[in-house]
Amino acid sequence: DWNAGNVIAEQVAAIREQVGSGRVICGLSGGVDSAVAAAIVHEAVGDQLVCVFVDHGLLRQDERRQVEEDYVASTGVRLVTVDARERFLGALAGVTDPETKRKIIGREFIRTFEQTQAELVAESAEAGDPIRFLVQGTLYPDVVESGGGSGTANIKSHHNVGGLPEDLNFELVEPLRTLFKDEVRAIGRELGLPEVIVARQPFPGPGLGIRIIGEVTEDRLTTLRAADAIAREELTAAGLDAEIWQCPVVLLADVRSVGVQGDGRTYGHPVVLRPVSSEDAMTADWTRVPYDVLARISNRITNQVPEVNRVVLDVTSKPPGTIEWE
Ligand code: XMP
Repeated sequence: DWNAGNVIAEQVAAIREQVGSGRVICGLSGGVDSAVAAAIVHEAVGDQLVCVFVDHGLLRQDERRQVEEDYVASTGVRLVTVDARERFLGALAGVTDPETKRKIIGREFIRTFEQTQAELVAESAEAGDPIRFLVQGTLYPDVVESGGGSGTANIKSHHNVGGLPEDLNFELVEPLRTLFKDEVRAIGRELGLPEVIVARQPFPGPGLGIRIIGEVTEDRLTTLRAADAIAREELTAAGLDAEIWQCPVVLLADVRSVGVQGDGRTYGHPVVLRPVSSEDAMTADWTRVPYDVLARISNRITNQVPEVNRVVLDVTSKPPGTIEWE
């Protein structure tokens, strides 16, 4: 039978064999795949590995800290965080078109990552010990999908954090290539990774940038981050994490509606809750979240998040809706 400990032992041996005394680099996205891939490689080669985490400013509340503190504490990996928040906000200024946003975020991500990578490679070459290997958290379904793809329409340009251009002179290390997501999670747990990372639901590479309908600004990110954190907290508290594939919270930044709060009129923005149930994200249904949970989320968001005076529920399946709004 399948056993996480055995898979780790096999992979550790294979990585040692492949890498020898070479140095290795890995981009962390905050998601489960890259985190587990890096943890296995670290188990195999220790400080020959350096990890890079790009903070593009489109992360959810607490995600950077979870990587910088919790993940590092549990693995001991050497981590370089790049604070690229201003760079991304600058590049996104004035942009409202979804595909343009996605392209900008993807492009800036790759530039930022490559720049950092080049600096680390240069440093290591100076020390006479060049970085030659790159870890990718490719899973078995990714291998199958990219191998067999005929005629799949590009509905949205997917930006995978860690998805890198082909002209890199690295040899790839892909310890998760034969595994499915639930197996990756089991391995992460076996390696002692924090539950917030191992159990993380899918989150798109372009992050909150494609959940603000309208221009992405610092203030809007702050608003959405707060609303999103409340929704996630309440869904988790209600025990719904297993039933829900993911629940994007979307800020309709260009829409305003009139409300009343205390003794004053408000003119704020709506947020949309998009809880979905799915097997593989190719199709999805909206999750029938109990009314009392929805009520708590709505009350808390409208009370605690200035700028938001209305909470609405998306009851569209996929198709015809996609999971994300952009
Ligand atoms: P859609 O919106 O196409 O999303 O129904 C399907 C799943 O993919 C996630 N998603 C992304 N993941 N990079 C990613 O890594 C992306 O650019 C991206 N866009 C969407 C989405 O959250 C859902 O799980």
